[in-house]
Amino acid sequence: MSTAEMLLWVNKYKPKSFDEIIGNKEAISTFRNWLDSFFNGTSQNKAALLWGPPGVGKTLTVEVAAIEYKAELIQMNASDSRSYDDVERIAITTSKHVGFSVSRKIILVDEIDGILVSEDKGGLNALIKLIEVSKFPVVFTANDPWDPRFKQLRDACLMIQFNAVRSTSIIPFLEKICRAEGISYNREALKIIAERCEGDVRSAINDLQTCVAGRKVLKLEDVKWLAYRDRVIPAFEVLRGIFSANTCNSAKRYTITSDLSYDELIQWLNENIPIQYSEPKELVDAFNSLSKADVYLGRIKSSQDWSLLS
Ligand SMILES: Nc1ncnc2c1ncn2[C@@H]1O[C@H](COP(=O)(O)OP(=O)(O)OP(=O)(O)O)[C@@H](O)[C@H]1O
Ligand SMILES: [Mg+2]
Repeated sequence: MSTAEMLLWVNKYKPKSFDEIIGNKEAISTFRNWLDSFFNGTSQNKAALLWGPPGVGKTLTVEVAAIEYKAELIQMNASDSRSYDDVERIAITTSKHVGFSVSRKIILVDEIDGILVSEDKGGLNALIKLIEVSKFPVVFTANDPWDPRFKQLRDACLMIQFNAVRSTSIIPFLEKICRAEGISYNREALKIIAERCEGDVRSAINDLQTCVAGRKVLKLEDVKWLAYRDRVIPAFEVLRGIFSANTCNSAKRYTITSDLSYDELIQWLNENIPIQYSEPKELVDAFNSLSKADVYLGRIKSSQDWSLLS
């Protein structure tokens, strides 16, 4: 994991045991019972499919299982795989191979919804073949596994549903992060973050980190902008927000609420700076800042290093 990734609270505070995972107790318990029965040879199903909305702990549960069962996690992202032949080759070869040092493995094929984007049936068949030949538990995850093309796969799997996590469970988790980071927080602000994320724990943690913006205090006003995120803010409102912001951080928040691309935003700012500012010094400062932003955007695009945005 790169340093930039480590700084993300979703990674820094990622649970390492089942007890630390919030919500979805029943799903996690079903999953653990299935793994127990798989490893003691009594399981009916060789594969499980964990499904449900984003950011609720599906991938996390499998990662934690690898830690708790002391198993090696063989992880693949179905939508990332360049060729579905690769999925078959890597997974089947690995699953047949019983290593000397690690005797337990869990095979995770993450986000299988992505496989349907390609009309190629090879990928899906490879997954079904994987279940047949694997000597190890195979776990799939998906947001929506109800496409008719998944029927055969579903029939071969123990289906385990994950649900949105309650805000009342998310609040204490966010409080724990604040305490660990030495942040004094407004409880109402945490409640707003937990309620706005609609049960998506990943979003809640990311929102908390964005709202805190490197400071040691979280005030109610820091989270107000979240209320606007769901609706697309017209370009002129975004510009007004940016031009009226007192700090870089509050200006940045307006860029998040907009659905303008960064290129479009730079163009809009370019056209509006002469309207907003009349003093020569202000104009020079504004254009200097904008050209710096443009240089950084170029670097981000060529290096794909999005951490430069922060
Ligand atoms: N229930 C949870 N308890 C604690 N942390 C969680 C929980 N769910 C998610 N997180 C945090 O959010 C991160 C992302 O969660 P995860 O990858 O498990 O989501 P997911 O359900 O697999 O979503 P997607 O459908 O987008 O793949 C985790 O690494 C963890 O930091
Ligand atoms: Mg996932």
